[in-house]
Amino acid sequence: MKIVIFKSNFNPITKYHIKIAKEVLKKKNADLVCFYIDSSLNDDIYHREKMVKMAIQPYRKFVYINNYQKLMKRNKENQYLIFEDIESEKQSDLFKTGRLSTVDKKVCSYVFNNGIYAKEIINSYVSSKRFKHCLSVADLCLKIARGNNLDEYKAYLIGLYHDIAKDLSKEELLIYMNIYKPYEIEYDYHVWHQYVGYYYLKHNCRLKDKRMLKAIRHHCLGDDNDVYSKLIFIADKLDPLRDYDSSKLIEIACKNLNKAFDLVKKQNEEYLESREVV
Ligand SMILES: [Fe+2]
Ligand SMILES: [Fe+2]
Repeated sequence: MKIVIFKSNFNPITKYHIKIAKEVLKKKNADLVCFYIDSSLNDDIYHREKMVKMAIQPYRKFVYINNYQKLMKRNKENQYLIFEDIESEKQSDLFKTGRLSTVDKKVCSYVFNNGIYAKEIINSYVSSKRFKHCLSVADLCLKIARGNNLDEYKAYLIGLYHDIAKDLSKEELLIYMNIYKPYEIEYDYHVWHQYVGYYYLKHNCRLKDKRMLKAIRHHCLGDDNDVYSKLIFIADKLDPLRDYDSSKLIEIACKNLNKAFDLVKKQNEEYLESREVV
């Protein structure tokens, strides 16, 4: 039996890994390709392992292994062929810069739902100034969530993802608005990014969490009553990086989210009226 051991970081596994595994299977006339995560860096492979299993699941000649060292001890007759490929690392890096089509849909969904590479991915979508805002809002979301006994990680990810579409140009936003939901075009284009962000995360990134999606969809206008929608609305407006002192309202938000929401909403409506944004 000819066995190929495909050793790579699989960080994450991409369609390219699958393609070259198919090629090597054919070329070497092998019976099996064993996917082995090279964990020499001693990092946590929990998510990578799950993604590899997910991606190879449709292929009966592909298996996942974690007993590489044991196999190598028994490899006296060189029955196992080790296969490594440098190019595949570049494909994994491309995914982390927003090239979502480089990975299987299930893997993409897993990444976004679990917040894997979340910072790297968001960093590639927005400007450095916006990225700092996203990090700051995510931290504030976590803080407010903790004070109100909410899911801290869910809150953190909402904060990180909420402005994913914010740095698109008006023309680019318009393209997405036309694809997804033309009737919302009636709103000022400054709020379009909440709809585009929602649809992009739902359809392209395959984020499944309905409350997270809803919160992002309403984060500019604060026109939804779900607690996570209120949370991101507050955190976005009270971001400590903005040029006004929001510390008192943050303090209130950490104790009583609903009270802070009412105060921030009122303050925001007055601001929008003065600018005639809505
Ligand atoms: Fe926003
Ligand atoms: Fe924002």
